[in-house]
Amino acid sequence: MVKRLFTGVVTLMVLSGLGFLFFAWQPALTAIEPPQAAAFPAEQIAQGEQLALAGFCANCHTVPGGQDYAGGLGLDSGFGIIYTTNITPDPETGIGTWSEAAFFRAMRKGVSRNGAHLLPAFPYSHFAKITDPDLTALYAYFMTRTPVKAEKQRNTLPFPLNIRLLQAGWKLLFVNSSAGPYQPRADKSEAWNRGAYLSEGLGHCGACHTPRNALGGEKLDHAYGGAVIDHWLAPSLTHTNPSPLPWTEADLFDYLRNGASPLHGVAAGSMAEVVHMGLAKLPEADVRAIAVFFADLNGSATVDAAPALATAMARERNDTGSEADHGAQLFRTACAYCHYNNAERPAPARPELALSSTIFASDPVNFIHVVLDGIGSKDGIPGLYMPGFAKSLSDDDIAELASYLRRTRTDQPAWPNLIEAVASNRKSLTASH
Ligand code: HEC
Ligand code: HEC
Ligand code: HEC
Repeated sequence: MVKRLFTGVVTLMVLSGLGFLFFAWQPALTAIEPPQAAAFPAEQIAQGEQLALAGFCANCHTVPGGQDYAGGLGLDSGFGIIYTTNITPDPETGIGTWSEAAFFRAMRKGVSRNGAHLLPAFPYSHFAKITDPDLTALYAYFMTRTPVKAEKQRNTLPFPLNIRLLQAGWKLLFVNSSAGPYQPRADKSEAWNRGAYLSEGLGHCGACHTPRNALGGEKLDHAYGGAVIDHWLAPSLTHTNPSPLPWTEADLFDYLRNGASPLHGVAAGSMAEVVHMGLAKLPEADVRAIAVFFADLNGSATVDAAPALATAMARERNDTGSEADHGAQLFRTACAYCHYNNAERPAPARPELALSSTIFASDPVNFIHVVLDGIGSKDGIPGLYMPGFAKSLSDDDIAELASYLRRTRTDQPAWPNLIEAVASNRKSLTASH
């Protein structure tokens, strides 16, 4: 009996193992002669350029100061560094010998031309929603870039994460491979559908803003619920967004188009790249459409912002600060001359901290990051910058400032372990500079 059971279990394991291999094994697709640039219509290439901006391909595939799309940027996965690949049409080190079918398979299924499974640091589960004509245009754009010779650097993932075949198991668990390209919803407007298509597919907003499970899969039942990524918090984009004021369509448009919104502050960190290297260069209607989609998702149209605005401005005005409080003193000497507002609405050049998500969020990382590192004049409000205080303020100082602003500008519970949080953020900044 026991023996028969054992044989049964072993047979089952062998069969499921074979089934997994059958699923996991992907053929190499035949290499082609690199196509001539003239093979692609000019308007298709131009369309592909727009789509590459909307998908932020350069943010990951171009090293700052390096050659366009030659890859080599290291992404810290938490388990090891994953390097981006060369997606120029160089036949040896890039994608020059890739057929359109090979490109489609990579973008939709995360499989390289040689059959190797690609890692989810490449957001193919989002790109799978791109339509056929848009993928064709992207292919035309990339096959007509200047070829650059640049080998992919080896990822530093430890065993067994470096076994690409096992990625198939990850896909089985977390990628809905039968979903196919984006399907418009009949009950929504054309702008909403355009916004949803761009956000869920090319723009892969969820790759940063959706929380992940322990194995790194996006928790799709908490889509856009907010997540910490690379020592930044990508805040929730739903009604659980930390900002005291709702993000209206107009606010979202300003922020996504220009990187700054008068009532919500500025885009810093990787969001600054998303705006300035991508969204700012798209047709205005596309950015408007993304704003329409998220304004509907967060329900801002049904919220009256006036009371929350009045409360925030009153908190700011009424705070005279107690001389004994080190945080209050620091705020007055180091911050107030740029940030203090004494009116019904904040002045456009004075971001109001009593309205900032950075002070209201459950995680202080963004506040700490901005205070340590500042915000350059290229990001945020044109012509203005926020100085970094890494050299002039200690971990203690920044922790005191944070708890003071949290206490006087919000109704949220105190942040725990602030000094440790500042110290660990400071370390990550030193490591990346
Ligand atoms: C968030 C970062 C990120 C973005 C954005 C991104 N990629 Fe990638 N991409 C990667 C990484 C990382 C890899 C390599 C994954 C691996 O080693 O398994 C990759 C691999 C690829 C590959 C496979 C190349 C090969 O040799 O196997 C293609 C094709 C590709 N990307 C195209 C694109 C296009 C087109 C866009 C824009 C629409 C884009 N990527 C946007 C990170 C990114
Ligand atoms: C590479 C990661 C990444 C991607 C992709 C990304 N975001 Fe962000 N986003 C962030 C981070 C990090 C922040 C916090 C920045 C800050 O506080 O200055 C942020 C902030 C925001 C905010 C401000 C929220 C608040 O309360 O302050 C909005 C709105 C936003 N993102 C929308 C989007 C949309 C829409 C997309 C897709 C088109 C997108 N993001 C794609 C990382 C990302
Ligand atoms: C010289 C003027 C100046 C000083 C001093 C200054 N800031 Fe700023 N700060 C700015 C500007 C301007 C921005 C908006 C970013 C931009 O446009 O570059 C900003 C942005 C911020 C943000 C992000 C707000 C958001 O939601 O987008 C925080 C948080 C912040 N400052 C905190 C502080 C703190 C704390 C201090 C004092 C230690 C301080 N700042 C000192 C000018 C200043």
